[in-house]
Amino acid sequence: MAGRLPLRFAATIVFFFSFLLFISGWILQQKSLTALQAAMIQPVPSPHVAASSKHKPKPPFQLIDQTNNIPVLRSKKNLKAAHFQFVQKKENVCHSLMVLAELARLGTGADKILLYPESWIGTEEGTWSRLLKAAEKRFEVKVRAVGGLGGGALGDAGPSLLHAFAETKYDRILYLEPLGLPLRNLDHLLYGTLTAPVVGTRSYWLPKMVQQLGPLSGQVLLLTPSTRLFNKTKKLQLENPEDDSISIINDLLSSHSLILPQHPYATNIFEFRAVDHSKYTLNDWDPVKVSEESYYISFMDQSAPMPWFTWPREVTDKVRPKVPDDAMVWKALYDRWARVRMNVCGLDLEYLRQN
Ligand SMILES: *[C@@H]1O[C@H](CO)[C@@H](O)[C@H](O)[C@H]1NC(C)=O
Repeated sequence: MAGRLPLRFAATIVFFFSFLLFISGWILQQKSLTALQAAMIQPVPSPHVAASSKHKPKPPFQLIDQTNNIPVLRSKKNLKAAHFQFVQKKENVCHSLMVLAELARLGTGADKILLYPESWIGTEEGTWSRLLKAAEKRFEVKVRAVGGLGGGALGDAGPSLLHAFAETKYDRILYLEPLGLPLRNLDHLLYGTLTAPVVGTRSYWLPKMVQQLGPLSGQVLLLTPSTRLFNKTKKLQLENPEDDSISIINDLLSSHSLILPQHPYATNIFEFRAVDHSKYTLNDWDPVKVSEESYYISFMDQSAPMPWFTWPREVTDKVRPKVPDDAMVWKALYDRWARVRMNVCGLDLEYLRQN
């Protein structure tokens, strides 16, 4: 087993570069083809000029991410992959289900897992149980009850992020923090990237000192399940019950992780309210482009109310981005979240009670 690993790694690299070479060749070919066609046919001016830049690649690849127009390498090596969500509180079932439902709508080819605490079985049914049933029936989510890590003191909290390491039936697990939404299909992460025990984005908004330590933010995490890692992280968690799972993962694995760029993998809604965007992206700030390119948006914003409330006008006026374009995209994203919540959970926004 140990002797085979470098070979497999080398094979992955060779494969990866051949794939790159293949893509670049293909793109060049497409370009000259387009140029040829353009020379042959006198282009008719049309109001839809912008659409031509989004020309659809014809599939020499196994599969195309139709939604986002990206060639996606899928299941070449029969990788088994799953999206992972877990809930510890009944009121959070909707948020996790929203993430999985949107991934389904965006056309993911991976399985979808949702874990909930064993201790809920036999308790009073409600919105949570209706949503868990909908998860199975409507969105084909694999819903499972599990016990906590400790089985005792910590036991009752039920599943945690660390349980993702225990999903050893799968080669890759992708976790998106549930108070957020996937905006584009992320299957290329599950099926195409180089492996590492953990792949994720950093907490770019933290002060530079903390950032240099390289902690992963836990917003977008690609994990390689392993019983060994599950045992190790579980042990550390039981020794440090106050720490959250992402700190445990950072403590044990940050030097074994692969870092994804913040943009376009993890965008925060508060970025649209920021003035200086240099920590988030090296490009010029363009809110429309950012929201179109982003794979995931988080709605955590300590200076704004939670997204499931309708905000009174004076609150909105206070937190709304000052630049009109920023404000437009910002509002569209909040509206999208509310719409998905209604479609998936059948829940309307709630009134925000102040103080
Ligand atoms: C993980 O822990 C379980 C139970 O404590 C044990 O049976 C198993 O051998 C451990 N596996 C590894 C790979 O450490």
